[in-house]
Amino acid sequence: MSSIPHTSSSNVIVSPARGFRGSVTLPGDKSISHRYAMLAGFAEGTSRLMNFSTGADPHSSLGCMRAMGAKVTTLGKTIEVTGTGGVLHQPKGDPGGSLDCGNSGSTMRMLAGLVAAQKGTFRFVGDESLSVRPMERIRKPLEQMGARIDLTEGHAPMVVHGGKLTGVAFEAPIASAQVKTAVLFAGLQAQGVTSITERVRTRDHTEHALRAFGATLQRADGREGERLAITGGQKLRAIEATVPGDMSSAAFFLCACLLFEDSNLVLDALGMNPTRAAMLDVISAMGGVIKVLDVQETHGEMAGTIQVNRGRALVGIDIAGERAAQLIDELPVIAAIAPYTEGGVRIRDAKELRVKESDRIALVVKNLRAMGAEVTELEDGMDIPGGQRLRGGVIDSGMDHRIAMAFAIAALRAEGETEIRGAEAARISFPEFFTWLDELALR
Ligand code: S3P
Repeated sequence: MSSIPHTSSSNVIVSPARGFRGSVTLPGDKSISHRYAMLAGFAEGTSRLMNFSTGADPHSSLGCMRAMGAKVTTLGKTIEVTGTGGVLHQPKGDPGGSLDCGNSGSTMRMLAGLVAAQKGTFRFVGDESLSVRPMERIRKPLEQMGARIDLTEGHAPMVVHGGKLTGVAFEAPIASAQVKTAVLFAGLQAQGVTSITERVRTRDHTEHALRAFGATLQRADGREGERLAITGGQKLRAIEATVPGDMSSAAFFLCACLLFEDSNLVLDALGMNPTRAAMLDVISAMGGVIKVLDVQETHGEMAGTIQVNRGRALVGIDIAGERAAQLIDELPVIAAIAPYTEGGVRIRDAKELRVKESDRIALVVKNLRAMGAEVTELEDGMDIPGGQRLRGGVIDSGMDHRIAMAFAIAALRAEGETEIRGAEAARISFPEFFTWLDELALR
């Protein structure tokens, strides 16, 4: 039975499958698309961005750049952005005009860094979920540099009063590529040198993107972690780039592959940046067989074709420490397939999951239980025993894209149909998800 004909405005019924096969080219990486959108809007000249993410979030970034003076033209999956040459305008409108970040934490946090050195007052708003997510983490470094930021009890609405910034040496207290990006974007425009030291190395798309747009950046590994330094006053120039496929979107189909002996998946032009590729190690450790067919590098970002199928049995895994931070977006789907493993899955050091688009620990636990699974909730993770059979149930996505998609994958091996409530949330990062799921699942 197909998962699509049952679609109501926001609910999708997913029926069990007997295999998973096919070949897809995934939409452009969400993280890279955000950075290219922002830097293209800031640079001088017209950038051409091919295979730009189809997700709503990077389009929120484009919308904000447009509101601050960039010209954005959409030609299918190619986006042309004519930048502002380093001068962003306070958005027009009443009162003062707002930058609408929708559901996107990346847009709000990274853009705060970009506007912190600009003349004017920039008011950021977001949807219900974004309006309760922590913003203090960017206020601290940006205020140290000289900006002033008003938050509403630590959250959005957020007002950034831009001004002249001075470089600082910042030690990141939490592993967050968004915070790192905000600091580097501000440092690009500050007086002197700005540095950030990370104990846990986070995704490095910002570093590659800044270099692609012409900036110089120094990196040094020391005892305290990785230190990145940028000198202010550098000008950026437009680029032409193709965004590699999104590994975090691929994670759903990779996990689906693990569920069936009869599986075979080819993913083309997939982003394989080493700071994002931990998922491939997880798939191998859990019993998948991955063949990498070719890899190329453009603007520092690796992309390749991979073929995946299931080798031996599906086995469990322990994820903790640095690994938990590197897999933060993939943990919901790993947890969702955990009951089917031999040995179970244990996740620790993943407290950040509680402040994502939803409390992802609470929602994963709730939805696993709705499908009849046994699971123990921990403050910073969960324990999910293996060898369990799940039954179809009613899933509450909490309007969180990754929860909706994770449980659509779990549903493929459940007994009976599963209803995903709020399935439309998938549009945030992967609007094509349910259509492609239906094509790849053998029924
Ligand atoms: C992202 C960083 C991560 C991740 C988010 C995208 C990025 O967030 O969860 O989906 O593009 O830099 P944090 O920086 O808050 O860990």
